[in-house]
Amino acid sequence: DETKAGVKGLVDAGITKIPQIFILPPKHRAVTCETNFIFPVIDLEGINEDAIKHKEIVDKVRDASETWGFFQVVNHGIPTSILDKTLQGTRQFFEQDNEVKKQYYTRKIGKKVVYVSNFDLYSSCVPAASWRDSLFFSMAPDPPNPEEFPPACGEILRDLSKDVTKLGVSLLELLSEGLGLDRCHLIDMDCAKGLSVLGNYYPACPQPELTMGTIQHSDGGYITVLLQDQIGGLQVLHQNQWVNVPPVPGSLVVNIGDFLQLMSNDKYVSVEHRVIANENASRMSVACFFGISPWESHKLFEPIAELISEDNPPKYRATTAKEYRNYALSKGLDGTSALSPYK
Ligand code: SIN
Ligand code: FE2
Repeated sequence: DETKAGVKGLVDAGITKIPQIFILPPKHRAVTCETNFIFPVIDLEGINEDAIKHKEIVDKVRDASETWGFFQVVNHGIPTSILDKTLQGTRQFFEQDNEVKKQYYTRKIGKKVVYVSNFDLYSSCVPAASWRDSLFFSMAPDPPNPEEFPPACGEILRDLSKDVTKLGVSLLELLSEGLGLDRCHLIDMDCAKGLSVLGNYYPACPQPELTMGTIQHSDGGYITVLLQDQIGGLQVLHQNQWVNVPPVPGSLVVNIGDFLQLMSNDKYVSVEHRVIANENASRMSVACFFGISPWESHKLFEPIAELISEDNPPKYRATTAKEYRNYALSKGLDGTSALSPYK
């Protein structure tokens, strides 16, 4: 029952020193660094209005995906009210009575609704536990029944998923065009078919310098669309420096996952990121992953044939999602790419 209270349960119990399992080896901890890099923001306003505007946006998306693997979007079409309610509802889930919350607690694999703290702690060799609690939903192609969702956030997360799916389709179209492919290429490869949503709650941490909200990692799927609140703490590794992703009201953060890096033959990059723990405030984020679904686990993935030429030979051999996942889970978060065995 104690573990079911999550990291939040520790904070509520009034601890002033974090338990040993959260203490990171020094090389994984955050040291403050000054950087002049400015995280890219892309305005999607007028995306389908005229061809010139559209081309400009494609170029920006391509540049950011090649150099950062990350960008922030504004005027993306999802109403601010939906985003605000998503953060509120998800926060309400984590801050409600533990008796209610723990009904959703599970460490079983394959469940469609999962509330858990440190879901990856036992399945991979992580350097320490993360200072966060999580609420996971497998939303598409086979969503949970309406009554399986927690009342605090079920309805709003289903609304959000509908809107995020539309945005994901638009982003994947821009990304296809950025690769010089037909607009529908990535959609036709089912990249918008599998969606999971992960709510993250980062309680305030009495010793933030010893741990991490989310340990350095790259995302596994095609793309991730992330909603963060105004607290900040997300950092992206760019040219060997950690760069803050500043909270911009109404914006969403987009990043390339390992599978799109592989399919694009390294044109787009899946970049390491992390979340710093915060001493003074609790932080919320909701990550929407467009990724490989269970039905695809035996499908072969390889660099897209249309991108391959004599000048651009394939950098990866074909792999199944299953093989990728097994390796990614077993290697742990050592800072190397989970794609390296297929190079
Ligand atoms: C993650 O990348 O897993 C979490 C990102 C965030 O909370 O901002
Ligand atoms: Fe991530």
